[in-house]
Amino acid sequence: MKSLLSASTDDKAEEPDVSAETLRIRGGRPLTGRVEVKGAKNLATKAMVAALLGETPSTLRDIPGISDVNVVRSLLEVHGVTVEEGDEPGSLRLDPSGAVTAHFEEIDAHAGASRIPILFCGPLLHLLGEALIPDLGGCRIGDRPINFHMDALRAFGAIVDKSYEGIRITAPDGLTGAEIELPYPSVGATEQVLLTAVKAKGVTELRNAAIEPEIMDLIAVLQKMGAIISYEPNRVILIEGVDELRGYDHRCIFDRNEAASWACAALATDGDIFVGGARQQEMLTFLNVFRKAGGWFDVREDGIQFRRGGSIKPVVVETDVHPGFMTDWQQPLIVALTQAEGTSVVHETVYENRLGFTDALNQMGADIVVHPDGIASSDRRVPRRALEQAAVINGPTPLHGADVEVPDLRGGYSYVIAALAAEGESIVRNVGIIRRGYEKFFTKLDALGADFDVIG
Ligand code: EPU
Repeated sequence: MKSLLSASTDDKAEEPDVSAETLRIRGGRPLTGRVEVKGAKNLATKAMVAALLGETPSTLRDIPGISDVNVVRSLLEVHGVTVEEGDEPGSLRLDPSGAVTAHFEEIDAHAGASRIPILFCGPLLHLLGEALIPDLGGCRIGDRPINFHMDALRAFGAIVDKSYEGIRITAPDGLTGAEIELPYPSVGATEQVLLTAVKAKGVTELRNAAIEPEIMDLIAVLQKMGAIISYEPNRVILIEGVDELRGYDHRCIFDRNEAASWACAALATDGDIFVGGARQQEMLTFLNVFRKAGGWFDVREDGIQFRRGGSIKPVVVETDVHPGFMTDWQQPLIVALTQAEGTSVVHETVYENRLGFTDALNQMGADIVVHPDGIASSDRRVPRRALEQAAVINGPTPLHGADVEVPDLRGGYSYVIAALAAEGESIVRNVGIIRRGYEKFFTKLDALGADFDVIG
């Protein structure tokens, strides 16, 4: 790919072949160099929705150039929000003053593309009195129901009607603060409550809330807008509704999922990667596991350097809500664990179908057995969940090239990293999904010395 790209990931570097779907990868070379991570996918998209709540325009900075952002931008535009480039690269100015009810056909054009449309409900109900939600998309990693979201909206006084087109939600009597206890600390449902409660009449008490750093950053955005939100002990969030919110100016929190992905890529390929923009605080749990797995890191002011500290060691990991080990971190870690000196276990407790990607790793020579109903294990920190699956990874197994198809965002990233760590040539298909969450992915791979061509 050298002829197409400069070895840089700065703002000016253009990602070529944006429609690329298939890569030919020649593995066996360590990834070495520097990449920059921008704002978090899982904050930027929600902060963009929050702009709908303001009486004045908002500016969001460090927005990653990923397709999920494009979907939300387009949905805001069909609702009459004016979205323009901001005053610095990677920023957007969002002006909601012309917001209107969109036609179902326009909304439906985004069906299946992302899960963010569900978060438009509260802001649209406040603004227009109704919200239309298409069939939702996102990664196919389990059932991904929306019952917590709908129950929360009903608690605020909304009426939810399901039709063959999608879901129509109305609030003829306005929205009133409520006492809500989530059955599970869902990230999306917590955001739903925040985006609805800030302008509902009265106080909302949300119990068993998710407290991911991206949620704390969304709370910071809403506070800048004029919201009154306090975070109490034991996952309780109190929101005092206000009549009016204004626009915000905000720089997104960095993408800790992307940072962890590149860290695992350094571990898996025996490389050395400096991740500019990565911060320690939001990654404490990941860094502990990375170190136990034989990784070495150095936290600096402008980022974190990652490489192996010796041989890779087996670990037992349980995914969990924050402050636990994120479900989005296990896939690239598993690639590295195929090279560990012994047996590792990864318990997936957040989603019921997020270990299927390991089939392709087995095709590449890994020895991974997935237990669909989970397995008992001593010293568990996270109680077993009905949804649990577990992967047992026996290492070290040399990886070899294969022809594989990307199933979802994080699984897809792992396939590319596995192919880069493997001896020989691999074909990785359907790589377009990876652009949902990884900005300038090919540019960054190239800057790190990956040997690959776009072939389709
Ligand atoms: N759940 C329900 N009912 C609901 C909502 C959730 O049963 O109404 C269940 C889910 O099925 C799942 C669990 O609760 O088993 C947790 O789901 P959560 O709502 O926390 O996830 P989400 O908001 O849909 C976000 C991220 C995911 C990330 C999870 C967990 C976004 C756009 N997505 O999803 O990110 O894995 O939180 O941290 O913020 C990714 O980036 O690749 C990704 C999938």
